[in-house]
Amino acid sequence: MTHPAVADLVARSNRLGADPRTTNYAGGNTSAKGTATDPVTGEPVELVWVKGSGGDLGTLTEKGLAVLRLDRLRSLVGVYPGVEREDEMVAAFDHCLFGKGGAAPSIDTAMHGLVDAAHVDHLHPDAGIAIATAADGEALTAKIFGDKVVWVPWRRPGFQLGLDIAAIKAANPQAIGTVLGGHGITAWGDTSEEAERSSLWIIATAQAYIDAQGKAEPFGPALDGFAALPDAERRAKAAALAPHLRAVVSQDRPQVGHFTDADAVLDFLASARHAELAALGTSCPDHFLRTKVKPLVVDLPADATVEQVVERLSQLHEAYRADYTAYYERGAAEARARGEEPPAMRGADPAIVLVPGVGMFSYGADKQTARVAGEFYVNAINVMRGAEALSTYAPIDESEKFRIEYWALEEAKLQRRPQPKPLATRVAFVTGGASGIGKAIATRLAAEGACVVLADLDEAKAQAAAAEIGGTDVAVGVAANVADEAAVQAALAATVLAFGGVDIVVNNAGLSLSKSLFDTTEADWDLQHDVMAKGSFLVSKNFARALVDQGLGGDIIYISSKNSVFAGPNNIAYSATKADQAHQVRLLAAELGPHGIKVNGINPDGVVRGSGIFASGWGANRAAVYGVPEDKLGEFYAQRTLLKREVLPEHVANAAFALCTGDFSHTTGLHVPVDAGVAAAFLR
Ligand SMILES: NC(=O)c1ccc[n+]([C@@H]2O[C@H](COP(=O)([O-])OP(=O)(O)OC[C@H]3O[C@@H](n4cnc5c(N)ncnc54)[C@H](O)[C@@H]3O)[C@@H](O)[C@H]2O)c1
Ligand SMILES: [Zn+2]
Repeated sequence: MTHPAVADLVARSNRLGADPRTTNYAGGNTSAKGTATDPVTGEPVELVWVKGSGGDLGTLTEKGLAVLRLDRLRSLVGVYPGVEREDEMVAAFDHCLFGKGGAAPSIDTAMHGLVDAAHVDHLHPDAGIAIATAADGEALTAKIFGDKVVWVPWRRPGFQLGLDIAAIKAANPQAIGTVLGGHGITAWGDTSEEAERSSLWIIATAQAYIDAQGKAEPFGPALDGFAALPDAERRAKAAALAPHLRAVVSQDRPQVGHFTDADAVLDFLASARHAELAALGTSCPDHFLRTKVKPLVVDLPADATVEQVVERLSQLHEAYRADYTAYYERGAAEARARGEEPPAMRGADPAIVLVPGVGMFSYGADKQTARVAGEFYVNAINVMRGAEALSTYAPIDESEKFRIEYWALEEAKLQRRPQPKPLATRVAFVTGGASGIGKAIATRLAAEGACVVLADLDEAKAQAAAAEIGGTDVAVGVAANVADEAAVQAALAATVLAFGGVDIVVNNAGLSLSKSLFDTTEADWDLQHDVMAKGSFLVSKNFARALVDQGLGGDIIYISSKNSVFAGPNNIAYSATKADQAHQVRLLAAELGPHGIKVNGINPDGVVRGSGIFASGWGANRAAVYGVPEDKLGEFYAQRTLLKREVLPEHVANAAFALCTGDFSHTTGLHVPVDAGVAAAFLR
């Protein structure tokens, strides 16, 4: 049964985590203390429940809490060997767990356990960090909050910080919380309501003070030529830049991207002091672990052409990498001087790229990480605005940042991450993705770690299919008629703005009219050829441009057909256009090979179940031709095959997945039959 203190704690955490002004995503932690019965002795036992490592307050459940025995946690003070060895205390938390202990205790557990209050909140609110990163933060804290909130100078999270805050609480019985220099806030109360009130009061009071007392233009006056471009122009430029930017940020390893042109970003970039402030870097540890210490800022005005930005980007990227490497070397030298061997450099590419007039691109190992990095940079902009409005923004210094970024505990956390899935970091675009084979392919690629964009004629249907696969961090549905080049270009823009780029292109959209030569009208011929031969040409042409710009290779897969090689009656338009698609595979394999782009095809046959083509008349027609009931058509086809197996959309998806894995790294220009064996369609 849920302990009442836990129920209160989870409800309070969810409320606090729901408001981005209160804390950043997955940032901060909360706790409650209470008495339970020790199942071993039957005696009462004092416990502390505290948000475990890595969870998010907004979606916290009881499972996300670590549960420790308070007496044992507090006994650690007696064996604490001093700040130099405070990291050892994290392992000691495991010896304080109650039962199996729930979630893994985080580094902030000491703060929650040692502070003598039943309920404790540690949060990263933008308004609070603004005070925490102001050059005169200590004086501001006294001025804004009087003696209700006490300043704690910057110190890395850990056991010592917990002891410091506990001592401050003991020495200041009137205080309801603290501002943690360079970092955030910690507040408390005897009840859950009181702790929540303390937290919200500190945040609201800080924000009200910034609003009332802050100067008007904290980022300086408007910078000539750096104002946001008009909407359509801005998004077009962002889409044109995206593949080039992905090339740059993926030098060490491929990354997925996120784009935002939120007002907070555009306003920052349009102000005179944006470059100078961005160069100071972010401050809250939670922020720079995701954003990297500094962003890469394109130093060209809004009207710079894509070509100008791309050219400048390569110089800025080189400088960025040199700067980051130098930061790493300085930090590593200091670590060695302390007798520690730092973890190896994790890569010198930026996580945040700011383009004046256009917006912000953020990057990570998956879409969620990329999106959250962008959200954190918006938090950092808000922090800088607040700090500069009242004072001077003074983030923690770089050697402290290095110690956090390359902390042994942080490294251990990274090492514990599960192995990435085979298609992690890859972005797939699937035409005709709302139904049948296309939907099965999109589903499989997503299950293997790819981000997928499903394009289809009907937007609602594409979005519904995407929603079945996952949230918008995984799958997005867009409307696009592949026979219309403008629509294909819009779908490309939507893809690269959703995920930063594209790696796998699946030409699957199609339809089938089974008619004899004499019944096939010119319109029938044109429709079949427009959607399949021309449609896949247009998709390949536009998407290959992006693949080439990225320089990361890629895969183009054509869903051709057994009918591209097999000749039978009543199929002139469909089979002819399938043969056209099949030869596009070979032609493009030859042309795009030098760019590392593989082009392969799949020849399915007789995929009845789930196929819209079969449901909309073709199936009835085929059933009539073969003299079988329509619902037995799949079985009928199976009996015609060498393996006597029915072919399902999932079988085609298996082949599509296999073609873009490393196992087929040396194969291009191939067609894989997925037809359960049809000798008449053997390739030779
Ligand atoms: N089902 C089979 O047995 C079989 C066999 C060989 C090849 N194929 C090929 O597989 C592909 C998928 O077929 P399916 O059986 O899954 O059919 P399906 O009808 O279930 O799916 C095709 C999808 O393509 C979409 N589409 C049609 N025209 C489009 C356009 N102009 N732009 C964008 N989207 C468009 C449709 O709306 C539909 O959602 C087709 O190219 C088909 O020729 C199918
Ligand atoms: Zn924190």
